[in-house]
Amino acid sequence: MNEDLHLPPHAPRRVPLIGHAIPLMRDRLAFLQGLRAHGPIVRITIGPKRVTVVNSPELLQQMLTSKAGHFTKGLLFEKLKLFGEDALPIAEGDRHMRRRRLMQPAFHRQQIDQYLRTMHSTVDPMIAAWPSSAPLDLKTEMQLMTQNVVMAALFSTTPDRATAHTILESVDTLFAAALRHALLPIPLLDRLPTRRNRQVRHASRQVRAAVGEIITDHLARPDAYHDIVSLLLSVREQDGTPLTDEDILSEITGLLAAGSETTAVTLTWLFHELSRNPDLERRIHKEVDTSLTAGPLTAQTLTRLAFTRRLVNESLRLYSPAWLVTRQTCQPVRLGGVDLPAGEDIVWSPYTLHRDPSLYPDALRFDPDRWLPERPQPPKGSFIPFGAGKRQCMGNEFALAEATLITAMVASRWRLRPVPGPAVRPVGAITLHPSALRMSAEPRQPIHDDRKAI
Ligand code: HEM
Repeated sequence: MNEDLHLPPHAPRRVPLIGHAIPLMRDRLAFLQGLRAHGPIVRITIGPKRVTVVNSPELLQQMLTSKAGHFTKGLLFEKLKLFGEDALPIAEGDRHMRRRRLMQPAFHRQQIDQYLRTMHSTVDPMIAAWPSSAPLDLKTEMQLMTQNVVMAALFSTTPDRATAHTILESVDTLFAAALRHALLPIPLLDRLPTRRNRQVRHASRQVRAAVGEIITDHLARPDAYHDIVSLLLSVREQDGTPLTDEDILSEITGLLAAGSETTAVTLTWLFHELSRNPDLERRIHKEVDTSLTAGPLTAQTLTRLAFTRRLVNESLRLYSPAWLVTRQTCQPVRLGGVDLPAGEDIVWSPYTLHRDPSLYPDALRFDPDRWLPERPQPPKGSFIPFGAGKRQCMGNEFALAEATLITAMVASRWRLRPVPGPAVRPVGAITLHPSALRMSAEPRQPIHDDRKAI
């Protein structure tokens, strides 16, 4: 080995053979948070596997922007191929750039403004159908809503509740398998004839069938739709050939997976915090009662919902849904004074970054007013719930508009009260979700009851 190489320092308390596997398995969020005390870049081991954890905002910016060419998406995304071979969130190199350019127009700001009415008409009946004062599994309700929003806005399809449930459960099964295989990288684990692997294959068939139906419908009535599915069906590669059926299926499935649960858990955490902070709840009620009902729903409506938007930001900070993001070096690279060889697995966590007290005063407090423009803002690069650089979330504006609108719509109609039960704690699965969150919806009357104005 080259003596001049500076390898990342090892995190302390490494146990022979198993490395840091035990604290990681016991409480992965606390373990990752604790690693920040050991420097901007630190190496851990899980059995024979080495993983480098990048902690500092400066090094993350370098990794995700100026040095992004040295990194591929890494372990977690490799396992997410369960959703389809080469969808945008997983594709690399030229293929990634071409697909991103192709799909980006569907996510431009003006386009998002166009989606607002579809978002509203999709969500309104779902919220209205909540039973009064009966327990709701809030995460599932939010997932059904955000999944339907993606399907309605991007694929012009609104599944009934039973179909939506089947898709949701299948996507959950595929996500859980991807995370399991990424954290326990045992070769061929996913090929064994176990009951779990059979469930995964079944889930994959279910998602493909649902997405296949959407494509068939678009093919049968090509003039009826102007959405991302029709875009994918009409596009030609550089050599004039259309995308393959498999490509189209993967891209649609990829959007469904990337765009539903992330926004849903953000909303779930937001309503959990509101129910614990009566003062914040009063403030959002005041805002929605004056702003949501004033005239037709346009992009202007969102700008009037400034406090609601700060609540969304603060939820994205404290409960960053994409809590674990992976990379792998595809060539040797120097980062923060250490040398990373090609093939090094990297992880970084928006969740631990956003909870760092050296970047955020009173970091664990849910305080939407920290985002007031007159307050000192966190240092550059320290708020990145959507990542950064060429792989930054393509749906960020879509998600922010959707989360702000749904929050306002729910708050204008209901007060969500916690149902007594075990304490709610964050669980780091494929997204950061609450352990369990049952809430009951109590009807409330807006001060100006004029919802039809929208
Ligand atoms: C609060 C909601 C969301 C959060 C926190 C979030 C977070 C992220 C993050 C962190 C990445 C980058 C991963 C990386 O750097 O490796 C990403 C990528 C992506 N997201 Fe989101 N996302 C959200 C909602 C959405 C929505 C609603 C859509 C689409 C409808 C979407 C579509 C995508 C796509 C296509 C990519 C891949 C981009 C690329 O690789 O070029 N996301 N998201």
